[in-house]
Amino acid sequence: MLHAGGVSVTILDDVTTVRTSARDDSSRERSSATDAAIALDDRYAAHNYSPLPVVASSAEGAWITDVEGRRYLDCLAAYSAVNFGHRNAEITAAAHAQLDAVTLVSRAFHSNRLGPFCEALAALCGKDMVLPMNSGAEAVESGLKVARKWGTDVKGVPAGEGNIIVARNNFHGRTTTIISFSDDETARRGFGPYTPGFRSVPFGDADALADAVDENTVAVLLEPIQGEAGIIVPPDDFLPRVRALCTERNVLMIADEIQSGLARTGRTFACDHWNVEPDVYLLGKALGGGVVPLSAVVADRDVLGVLHPGEHGSTFGGNPLAAAIGSTVVAILARGEFQSRSAELGEHLHRRLRDLIGHGVLAVRGLGLWAGVDIDPSIGSGKQLSLRLADRGVLVKDTHGSTLRFAPPLVITAEEIDWAVDQFADALAETRTATA
Ligand SMILES: Cc1ncc(COP(=O)(O)O)c(C=O)c1O
Repeated sequence: MLHAGGVSVTILDDVTTVRTSARDDSSRERSSATDAAIALDDRYAAHNYSPLPVVASSAEGAWITDVEGRRYLDCLAAYSAVNFGHRNAEITAAAHAQLDAVTLVSRAFHSNRLGPFCEALAALCGKDMVLPMNSGAEAVESGLKVARKWGTDVKGVPAGEGNIIVARNNFHGRTTTIISFSDDETARRGFGPYTPGFRSVPFGDADALADAVDENTVAVLLEPIQGEAGIIVPPDDFLPRVRALCTERNVLMIADEIQSGLARTGRTFACDHWNVEPDVYLLGKALGGGVVPLSAVVADRDVLGVLHPGEHGSTFGGNPLAAAIGSTVVAILARGEFQSRSAELGEHLHRRLRDLIGHGVLAVRGLGLWAGVDIDPSIGSGKQLSLRLADRGVLVKDTHGSTLRFAPPLVITAEEIDWAVDQFADALAETRTATA
């Protein structure tokens, strides 16, 4: 474990120079900076997370430095919110410039940043309009409200009777409505009563989805690739069949691209891999450039046009600071360099990870620089592996007990990927030996 007394610590100078030194008195003293920071969090911050014992104090590109000066290769990228790298120079320059101009007026007034941002994002998505919000969960909530309103105002479903189809093992956020259609008992238990109106079908099963649609179905809400579930890629015919079904039955297809979108999978949107264009995109995370929370619902006028003044809103939604940052993110995406990087380096990452199948790894899934790796549970848990990797200077996070997610900032290099996978192979070998 990283912070147990008397064990060795790993100090990373750069990718090729990894120095391991025994802890002496001065390093023990330094480790108290970590312990003190964690103790303060434990005492005053609600215990709704179980973080790795790493206390970040600065970051740049794909690297995070902790309070003791140790460097870690970030292979999580804040769950894809830092796709373009920590403190991306273009994005921080836009943020600094906007901080010196105006940051917040609320939607009571216009700002000179909102229109250009919405125009650029709508163009990137091939849609007419944007509803800007803040967190990902807010974008999902807003998308659901828009779909219900579209159902009554446009489709003619009796008010209060619309239903929305979702996928099993989905993850769309943490609000009461969203957890109402989650299968994760830890996320749900004790938070009822739940919001009705949702039908859940197995992810990837187009026939089950077709059976669940009736005349009151207003939308299908899906992650094109399920992220929190373990980077689950659906069968190739799934999303095209959902698209065709939604068109045929006059149902909105809503793609939650909050984690999968904005270059993560090697394309602008994960849906692009199957040439599918949903009716509604839900975006978040990387849209705020890793600087501010910025999310959006993006759709055509016949959908988003159902909202009128007073029916929906957010004090911070579309604020000038976030809009300036979002415009820069869209400009970066329009150039396509990060999509290409993720596609090329993703193949390399997947090839290297697949070589570990049979050596403690059971399966590797994903697209681009996004990989879900199932660990053989007989050698240890995902949490144990992520702790060992942190000790070796690589930050990943476990999900569902025995799956690790690799989702580095897209600025990572091939050499850094090789180094991270080498550390992973060594950590697996170490874990196998410890359990043998
Ligand atoms: C697919 C998906 N949708 C929605 C969310 C919620 O985003 P936020 O945490 O910003 O509310 C997440 C977060 O992980 C996500 O992965």
